[in-house]
Amino acid sequence: MDSLGAMGTVTLPTVVPAPEGKPLRSETDETQSRSRRIAQDPAYWNEQEAAAIAARFDLLAEIWDEERSSYRSAPLADALARGGPLPKGTCVELGSGTGVLTPLLLEHWPITFCVDLSAGMLRKASSGIRLRADSCRLPLRSGSAAVVVLGDTSLFAQEVVRLLHRDGVVIWLNALGADAPHFVPTEVLLAAFERASARRWDAVQSQALWGQWVVLRRQ
Ligand SMILES: C[S@@+](CC[C@H](N)C(=O)[O-])C[C@H]1O[C@@H](n2cnc3c(N)ncnc32)[C@H](O)[C@@H]1O
Repeated sequence: MDSLGAMGTVTLPTVVPAPEGKPLRSETDETQSRSRRIAQDPAYWNEQEAAAIAARFDLLAEIWDEERSSYRSAPLADALARGGPLPKGTCVELGSGTGVLTPLLLEHWPITFCVDLSAGMLRKASSGIRLRADSCRLPLRSGSAAVVVLGDTSLFAQEVVRLLHRDGVVIWLNALGADAPHFVPTEVLLAAFERASARRWDAVQSQALWGQWVVLRRQ
């Protein structure tokens, strides 16, 4: 654990309790270790990985909203309610998928770019400014984002730092908390952002329903 980063982490009490019946995914060990490795070393990511992820989510697009959407917004709603202050401006949602989280983001940030690798997932989405792109290399201007939101997707901290306005914030979400296929512990997130920016970062985090959220900002 990065002790400097851990000193800057505040955990808020849970106000949206977790009911029985949390779904567990069979592939979680493998996908979590991949997500953590990418966050720690983006060199792990390559075109084959990107193609495999896009193909996997093109298939999942068919069942995503029906099977997986009902519980996904709760951590974002809680982060928006308690993780502030949150700056105004442009929002960039990375790994936006079918757009389950986008309507809530649009309530706060009327200009929201929704970026995803999977054409199949993006085709199901109906709001936000949709872009098919890889989060490791975004076709967006440096310093243009007030907020970057990552809901259960890959973290390329260098690219997030490049996009963020100086006072911008990052919202990291795992809809199934520590059991989420793309869960990355907060200390790993902080270390990734600190490496990418050569600055210290703070985190405010909590749990809501089955999920977890972290709002990260530069000191
Ligand atoms: C688990 S889904 C989450 C979708 C949405 N955020 C939600 O909560 O419903 C992960 C999404 O991230 C996308 N994704 C994964 N890696 C990506 C990358 N490097 N660039 C862009 N999108 C990526 C996938 O295509 C997929 O749509």
